[in-house]
Amino acid sequence: MSDSASRDQFGSRIGFILASAGSAVGLGNIWRFPFVAGENGGAAFVLIYLLLVFAIGMPLMLSEFIVGRHGAGNPVASLKRACGKSFAPLGIMGILACLIILSFYAVVGGWTIKYTLDALMGSLGTDVASAGKAFGGFISSPFSVIAFQFLFIAVSFGIVVRGIQGGIEKFCTIFMPVLFVLLVVLAVRSLTLDGAMEGLLFYLKPDFSKVNSAMILSALGQAFFSLSIGVSVMLTYGSYLKKDEPLVGPAFQICLLDSFVAFIAGLVIFPAVFAFGFEPGQGPGLSFVTLPVVFSKMAFGGFFAAIFFFLLVISALTSSMSMLEVVCAWVTGEHGWSRKRATLAVVTVAFLMGVPSAISVGGGLDIAGKSFLDVMDFVASKVMMPIGGIGFALIGGFVVSGFAKEELPERIYSVWRFLCCVVAPVAIGWIFISGLTW
Ligand code: PFF
Repeated sequence: MSDSASRDQFGSRIGFILASAGSAVGLGNIWRFPFVAGENGGAAFVLIYLLLVFAIGMPLMLSEFIVGRHGAGNPVASLKRACGKSFAPLGIMGILACLIILSFYAVVGGWTIKYTLDALMGSLGTDVASAGKAFGGFISSPFSVIAFQFLFIAVSFGIVVRGIQGGIEKFCTIFMPVLFVLLVVLAVRSLTLDGAMEGLLFYLKPDFSKVNSAMILSALGQAFFSLSIGVSVMLTYGSYLKKDEPLVGPAFQICLLDSFVAFIAGLVIFPAVFAFGFEPGQGPGLSFVTLPVVFSKMAFGGFFAAIFFFLLVISALTSSMSMLEVVCAWVTGEHGWSRKRATLAVVTVAFLMGVPSAISVGGGLDIAGKSFLDVMDFVASKVMMPIGGIGFALIGGFVVSGFAKEELPERIYSVWRFLCCVVAPVAIGWIFISGLTW
């Protein structure tokens, strides 16, 4: 079924860039990037990460944009139209991956809302033991976790139901700049604390002895998840782009914004953690256990903590709305449902699929030693995203290269095609095989 008639479109180039950057900038940047970088050789990791973002992530993003713009439909329709019928399964896989990621992303999104409210009410822990206990207590009480998950997904619904221009573009055009400004405010606060230098050294002192295949793999996996590629998000956003808009400049700017936010998030976290003598190696608990305590030691700490968690809420919302949009585009495009009905159906399914993840984080719902949430994350990020990435690399290099030749400047086209045909499939195939440990 054709769904290109009467489709919504982005109203402006900047709206498109901010919405795509909004999808890319998420919990992966602010919550995950800093501790992964800190643990994996600091500046050495950051440099390799940047190389991978621009050498592999950006070419794949361009492939998705090209397919989306030529197909001018939902992922399945676009792939069929731009590449041929046999490519439809790649779109189906992307839609499924988005639904899976959305289901558990909304659980963590709910935690960020709860922590923002706690920060505003001044009820975050003031020492690591009590903050750890409070976090453990919260995530193991299914009723509250599910209530906040519901709230998070309801807000996402409220935005996506308004459409591309009136919902997603509008929200991202207002809140992405707010996010950038607040992040810089926090970084300035953190970098001007006494003793900030030690944290800066921990985060950025290059340790090239840590460069090994495991580290490069984790940088590539992080780049992939962070740029939201391989699962048709960028394809879907590209399908709402006007025909005469350039692609290379926006793709470059989106990658730059995404890397900028990830990098600055580390400048917020580590100087503050070290300035107050806390342990940086907290891994995933860093944001929800150590940071509330760090903030409690600062003057006006409650205010800065509220800003930090509010940033997490915005970044999670702009990512979740992109996943929701992929699935809604498919339901409206293929099945002819109204946007309202489709959005409601998709959030209901995503919410119900997320309930086992919400229950599993407090323990009790493990599959082969992993929580249900981790299993969902594994299936989507370690299996589906790399397969999708290889798919879009090969499509870029071999299937839509004719369209690309018309759209990309000549010199960029040759480099892009080489990256798509050779570098990206080999590198992603390698992450896929070596990263596939349970
Ligand atoms: N890029 C998002 C982040 O860094 O948190 C996560 C994400 C969004 C992954 C959308 C996949 C996706 F389709």
